[in-house]
Amino acid sequence: MQAYRLESHTGLDALRRVDLPDPTLAPDEILVRVRANAINYRDLSMPLGGYPRNDKIPLIPLSDAAGEVIDVGSDVTEFKPGDRVANCFFRDWIDGDINEQQMHTAHGGGIDGVLAQFIGLKQHAAVHIPAHLSFQQAATLPCAAVTAWQALTAADLNPDQTILTLGTGGVSIFALQLAKTAGARVIITSSSDEKLDRARALGADLTINYKTHPDWETEVRKLTDGIGVDNVVELGGVGTLEKSLAAAKVSGTVSLIGILARGENPSPLPVLFNRLTVRGIYVGSRAMFQQLNRTLETHQIQPVIDQCIPFADAPRAYDLLQSAKHFGKIVIKHD
Ligand SMILES: NC(=O)c1ccc[n+]([C@@H]2O[C@H](COP(=O)([O-])OP(=O)(O)OC[C@H]3O[C@@H](n4cnc5c(N)ncnc54)[C@H](OP(=O)(O)O)[C@@H]3O)[C@@H](O)[C@H]2O)c1
Repeated sequence: MQAYRLESHTGLDALRRVDLPDPTLAPDEILVRVRANAINYRDLSMPLGGYPRNDKIPLIPLSDAAGEVIDVGSDVTEFKPGDRVANCFFRDWIDGDINEQQMHTAHGGGIDGVLAQFIGLKQHAAVHIPAHLSFQQAATLPCAAVTAWQALTAADLNPDQTILTLGTGGVSIFALQLAKTAGARVIITSSSDEKLDRARALGADLTINYKTHPDWETEVRKLTDGIGVDNVVELGGVGTLEKSLAAAKVSGTVSLIGILARGENPSPLPVLFNRLTVRGIYVGSRAMFQQLNRTLETHQIQPVIDQCIPFADAPRAYDLLQSAKHFGKIVIKHD
């Protein structure tokens, strides 16, 4: 089969298209013909190395795939040939809290990923995909959508909440769509007015351009009568955290997810004086993915795909993601 492989931690030039033997099946595994992959911001970091617990080399990259089951091992009970499935981001995080051992099983980091024509998956590392989604749409779910789902539900998503989400990349657009299904009010930021128009069309209630309003946390407080938001979907990291802490209401939550922006280490004092909960979010478990899928189905949510790149041009997907011109997800499609 054809696959891509990172041969070293010397940057994207180390990504090669290679011929590998087709995966062989263990009794508890399913063989999946991959029909689509999605790329995430983290996949830009892997070629450089140093990502905690994600240093396998050589490495088949990417954490997200959707496809059809073509064979099952003798112990498999949940899947049959012809089923439409996606993989879980963590192979071994099934439910409950994640532990150290499970942390080492992230596809496309600690273990081989899914940028290949065929993949073998433990049955506990796969989920059925919602019937209303294409393979390309379903491929966007394992990392970005599950992350957004955990960030919102761990902070008790409900219609009385105001959610702030940063930027218009994959996680943020899912956070917007999912928060709206619960009837929450959503404030979203972007560097682009055109992207903010698109976010409003998807249901965003209030928008802030963080380039024209560098003090966007002040804007957030103005838009919330000086109170602040219930939950910040914090995607910037050190470069935005201080502002996110300032945008959260007393007793609010900051869901710490991203590493997009550089900056000074912020002061922790607002956490204390405003009694904030700062919660680390690391994608999610298989159980969270299954709950997410039920919500996607109930509300017939359509994941937002910016572009689909052919498998043969997969490195272009990395370039497009790096350019940050996209809105939502960039997908790789197979023939
Ligand atoms: N912890 C986890 O489990 C987890 C899971 C998934 C992702 N992440 C992290 O979350 C972040 C977003 O991931 P993604 O895959 O959604 O990325 P992405 O699709 O590449 O999103 C990039 C977008 O983020 C926005 N952005 C960049 N710098 C920003 C800043 N300083 N302030 C506000 N927005 C900014 C830009 O939106 P505009 O063009 O609209 O300005 C940019 O287009 C990344 O750091 C990623 O590593 C973490």
